Amino acid sequence: MAISLRKICAAWGVLLVSYVGLCFVLWPFLKLETAPGDWKVAGAGDEVLADFSASASSSSSFPQTCPADSKSGLCSPTERRFFFGLATAPAHVEDNLNDTWLEFARGHNGIFPVRAWQNVPIPEERLRFWTQPEIELDLAKETGITVFRLGIDWGRLVTEEPYNGMDQAVDMEAVERYKVILQAIRSRGMRVMLTLFHHSIPKWALIYGGWTQEKTVGYFTEFTRFAQKHFGEYVDYWITFNEPHIFVLLTHCSGTWPPGGQPSWKESLLCFTPYGHYGKAMAAISEAHKAAYNVLHEGDPKAVVGVAHHVGVIKPYGILDIPVVVFSRWLTEFKWIDDIHKHLDFCGINYYGQEILSSAGLMLVPEEEYSEAGRGVYPDGLYEVLVTFHKRYRRARPSLRYIVTENGFADARDIVRRPYLLEHLLAVNAAIQKGVPVDGYVQWTITDNWEWADGYCPKFGLVDSDRWDNLSRHPRPSYYLYQKVVRSGLILDQQRKEEWNTLQSDMRQGGIRPFCRVSDSHGRMWAESLDVPATRKIADKDWRFGKYKNPGVLEYVLRSFKVIGILLEDLGNWCMGSNPHMSLPPELRTGEL
Ligand SMILES: *[C@@H]1O[C@H](CO)[C@@H](O)[C@H](O)[C@H]1NC(C)=O
Ligand SMILES: *[C@@H]1O[C@H](CO)[C@@H](O)[C@H](O)[C@H]1NC(C)=O
Repeated sequence: MAISLRKICAAWGVLLVSYVGLCFVLWPFLKLETAPGDWKVAGAGDEVLADFSASASSSSSFPQTCPADSKSGLCSPTERRFFFGLATAPAHVEDNLNDTWLEFARGHNGIFPVRAWQNVPIPEERLRFWTQPEIELDLAKETGITVFRLGIDWGRLVTEEPYNGMDQAVDMEAVERYKVILQAIRSRGMRVMLTLFHHSIPKWALIYGGWTQEKTVGYFTEFTRFAQKHFGEYVDYWITFNEPHIFVLLTHCSGTWPPGGQPSWKESLLCFTPYGHYGKAMAAISEAHKAAYNVLHEGDPKAVVGVAHHVGVIKPYGILDIPVVVFSRWLTEFKWIDDIHKHLDFCGINYYGQEILSSAGLMLVPEEEYSEAGRGVYPDGLYEVLVTFHKRYRRARPSLRYIVTENGFADARDIVRRPYLLEHLLAVNAAIQKGVPVDGYVQWTITDNWEWADGYCPKFGLVDSDRWDNLSRHPRPSYYLYQKVVRSGLILDQQRKEEWNTLQSDMRQGGIRPFCRVSDSHGRMWAESLDVPATRKIADKDWRFGKYKNPGVLEYVLRSFKVIGILLEDLGNWCMGSNPHMSLPPELRTGEL
C-alpha cells in the first residue's frame, strides 16, 4: 500500500515537473515582446506622427492619384489608396428582423441568455437601419469616410430551407429594400463593403445544426451566387465570413450564442477533436468560402473578395498557463487563413486587443486597461498581427492585401476610446512603414449597437443612442476626433498628447468606467455579461503604441502561485458544496480593483 502510494506520488511529481518544464520550453516561442522599433514616418516633421495619404503614396502599390471608377465615379478598390471606413452588422442595426438573435433574446422558460436587453425599451428595434438607414448613413458620411461596411442577413433574404433551389425561398421585397440601402450608401459618395455571414445563421439552418452539416456549404454557395447577381453592381469589397471561429466556439462549443443550451461536458471536450463540432464547422466554412470566392469571381472577374478574421493577442496570465495559450493560438491565429489564403484578395483583420488566459478562462488583470466588453487594450498587438500575417503569406500569396476590417472600443464615457483610436492608427501606420500592404482601416462602429449576448451593455459607438429617447443620436468626442483624422489623413503629436493627458488626469482623479463582464474577486472573467454594468477604475498603465511593457518572468511565476491558490480555494469550496463567485453581488464581482 505504502509503495503504491509512493509510486502514485512519484508519477504525479514527474508529471508536474514535466509540465513546468514544458512551460519553460514553450516560453521562447510565445513572442510576448512586440517591438515596433523605429516607427516614425520618414521625413515627417515632429508635429506629424502619421500621414496616411503620404504613407499610401510612398509605397509603390499605392498610386498618388485615384482615377474615378467609371461604374461609380468613386475611387475603385483596385486603385489603391488608403481609406477609412465604418462598420455595422445586420443583427446589430436592422429593425423588422425576426432572426435567431431576436428569438434567443426573448428567452424561454424564464431564462434570458442575452444580457442588458430586457431592461431597455424596444430592444428589438436595434438601430432602425432597415426602415431609417439614412440616419446612420448621414452620420457615417459626415466623418468623411469612403467605405461603409454592412451585411445582408441571409435568413431575411432566404426565408426557408431552399430544398428545391432558391427561387421559392427568397423574399424579393427584402432584395429590393437592400438595393435601396446600397444605393443610398453610394449616393453619399461611399463605397460598399458587404459581409455575407456575420454571426447570423438563418433559423431554418440552425434547426438542423448549421455549419456542422455539409449541406450548408451548398446553400451558402447558392446564396452567394444570388447576392452577386442582385447586389454585385453596388459592391466594392466582399467579405464572405466574419470571425467564423468565434461564431463556431460560442455557438457550438460553449452554447453562449443561439440556440443556446449548455452542451454536455463531453460535447465541450470533444468540440476541438477532429470529430467535434469545431473542426467540422470550420472545415465546412473554409469550403464555403472557397466556393463563394470562385462564384464571386465568375460573376465579376474584378471582384475584390476577402474575409474578416478575428485576431486577439493571446497571452498567459502566469507561467503555467503557457500550454493553454499555445493551444489557443494554434487553434485561432493562422489555422483558418492557412486553409483559405489561396482564395483571398485581401485578408481583413478584426483587432480589439489582448486576451490574458488563465487555465481555461480569461483573466481581468488590475494593472491592465479593458473595454467594457472585457477586451484588453494593446495597440502594439495590431502592428504585430499585421506584420506577422504579411510575413507568413507573402511568399505563397504575393498579391494579398490587408484591411483592418474592425477595430473599436466599448467606452460609454468616451475617455479611453480617443487615445485608443489614435494609438491603433499609429500601429497601422507603423505596419505600412514596415512594408505591410494595408489598404484601409474600418472603425467599429458608428452608433451603440446590440452587442450579441452582451445586449446593449457595451457602448461601442462613436455616437451614443438614447434608447429612452426614441434612439436620439449624440455624437461623442471621438466621433469628431475620427472625423478630424479621416478628413486630414494626419495624426498629430499634439493631438496624441492631448488625448493621453486627458485620460491620465481622469485616472489620477480616480475616474471609473462601466464594465459589462461577470468576473469574480480573483479577476476571473466569464463569458456571461451583466444587465447593469459594474464599475472599474481607469488603469494606471502606459499602453500607448510602442510603450507597452509586459511583466517580467518573476511576475509570471508569482502569478502562477496565485492561480494555484485560487484553484485550491475552488477545490475547497467545491468540497463544501458552495459556489461563491457566482453568488457575489455585481459590485463585488469585479473585485476591489
Ligand atoms: C418570428 O418567427 C417565429 C418563428 O420562428 C414566429 O413564431 C413569430 O411569430 C415571428 N414573429 C414575428 C413578429 O413575425
Ligand atoms: C422617433 O424618431 C423618428 C426619427 O428618427 C421619427 O420618425 C419618429 O416620429 C419619432 N417618434 C417619436 C415618438 O417621437
